[in-house]
Amino acid sequence: MMVDVHSHLIPGIDDGAKTMTDSLDILQQMSDLGYQKVITTPHVMHDFYPNTSQDILKRVQVLQQRVDAVGIDLEVEAAAEYYLDEHFIKLLDQKSDLLTFGDNYLLFETSFLNEPAYMRQGIFKIISNGMKPVLAHPERYLFLQNNPEIIEDLVQRGLLLQVNTISLSGYYSKEARKLAENLIDKKMVSFLGTDCHNAKHLKAMVETIETRYFAKAMRLPLLNNFL
Ligand SMILES: [Fe+2]
Repeated sequence: MMVDVHSHLIPGIDDGAKTMTDSLDILQQMSDLGYQKVITTPHVMHDFYPNTSQDILKRVQVLQQRVDAVGIDLEVEAAAEYYLDEHFIKLLDQKSDLLTFGDNYLLFETSFLNEPAYMRQGIFKIISNGMKPVLAHPERYLFLQNNPEIIEDLVQRGLLLQVNTISLSGYYSKEARKLAENLIDKKMVSFLGTDCHNAKHLKAMVETIETRYFAKAMRLPLLNNFL
């Protein structure tokens, strides 16, 4: 795994890294783990994290400069993790400039408990706007753990799946681990991501590398390394 596609490492703009020192510590460790490129994805959530594309791009430039200055051999890019709600649908309708990575992949998340009313509409609108929808950590949503058949329907509509690597160590829950393993068995995973917010997540990442399912995931045709 050389490219990570999901993390919160721009300091001070969401619930991820708090300071530049935190960010640089984590990025140094990611480089030590073998990552060559980190596509970091701050939350964009209307009420809590109203981050704009412009601001994120400006801040990631500063981060890359600091990474270079302290001698960490790592390329840092930014996209975003959009929260799927009415406001996000509005951004899609307005054809706003959204941050994507690679071949126009757009990372989004949604509410954990219930299937959001906007799920199918959101996928359709993302695709209609010429982007490729990628759902962050499908294995963590209760409504998908309870009704995994929904996933197949969403995938048929063009949704790609990004599993959090540390789900495979049981970091979040037994249920999340089970669904992540299931998606790997069914070869439905397009991307792996660390979703790294802090040093605790990196520690879990190191433990995950030892698991059987991490090895199994590595044998999937993941898109990470084409970025
Ligand atoms: Fe995230």
